[in-house]
Amino acid sequence: MTRITLSSPLDMHLHLREGAMLKLVAPLSAKMFAGAVIMPNLVLPVDNREKLEKYILEIKNAVGNEIFMPYMTLFFRGYSEMELAKVKYDIIGVKLYPAGITTNSENGMQSLKKSEKTLSILQEMEIPLLVHGESGGFVLDREKDFLSTYNKLARKFPRLKIIMEHITTREAVKFLDKHENLYATITLHHLLITLDDVAGGLLAPHLFCKPIAKRPEDRDALLEAALNAHPKVMFGSDSAPHPIHKKESSGCAAGIFSAPVSLPMLAELFAKHGALDNLQTFISDNARKIYKITPPAKTITLEKRTWRIPENYGYVVPFMAETSVSWGIVK
Ligand code: DOR
Ligand code: ZN
Repeated sequence: MTRITLSSPLDMHLHLREGAMLKLVAPLSAKMFAGAVIMPNLVLPVDNREKLEKYILEIKNAVGNEIFMPYMTLFFRGYSEMELAKVKYDIIGVKLYPAGITTNSENGMQSLKKSEKTLSILQEMEIPLLVHGESGGFVLDREKDFLSTYNKLARKFPRLKIIMEHITTREAVKFLDKHENLYATITLHHLLITLDDVAGGLLAPHLFCKPIAKRPEDRDALLEAALNAHPKVMFGSDSAPHPIHKKESSGCAAGIFSAPVSLPMLAELFAKHGALDNLQTFISDNARKIYKITPPAKTITLEKRTWRIPENYGYVVPFMAETSVSWGIVK
């Protein structure tokens, strides 16, 4: 196969930021995706109706006439039923960050016990919970350690749809099957790189993200799930742009900017493994079923041709900058 047409590709985990950065990156996602789940970890987190409405407008302005549905999330905190009732139809879920675990998550969850009231409201209102699943322990074990929290959550709230965001380990892939109400997103970069690519040679700041890339056997387990379009797994880029000076710095910010390269690189990867037939399911169909959404109609065609990833998009460096991909978008 040298061409593939995708129907309404979706990015189920995306950071668009705000202000000038939003204006720079949002059109790049909107060009290639029919919609995306928008993360709420702005400097002041999106955690009330007013901020949500303002953010939706800002995104719509940045995207212009492009067909692109922003599926919004609220930042997890203690919410009342009344507060959530007012936003229920404007959001796809609530995103939970353990306090301090990543960029702009200082106001995240301090204790699971204290969060139970809100979690049970989410369950009753059928609002999915999206989780950054890392503990505060040793960096390579953070996801594995958090599985016990997923276990408690999934057991205590069996009707709550829980999305394990950007999973990076073999254990997390296996864990998906342990509870009916667990689902997951997988990024492009975790299908391609391991810790060796980040820190095995010269330190690669543009490959530094959270959760950090793990071992080859972890990557292989993620690959197997994605290439087989495991029904509980969706594509979520976790594209997280930071200005170049924040990446190429002694305190490098976590985040990989992959939005503009995701589709060509996924096509290349799926083609390489003879799995192109499963790309539609991974990139859109599973998400439609899991979230029960009908994205706007939009088709994106990719073809086998060499495409060179640019050195930068303005002041942001993309994933795999200045390398060649063997698949490109048909304009
Ligand atoms: O690498 C990451 N960057 N991981 C996250 O969880 C947050 C994201 C960001 O917002 O920069
Ligand atoms: Zn993220």
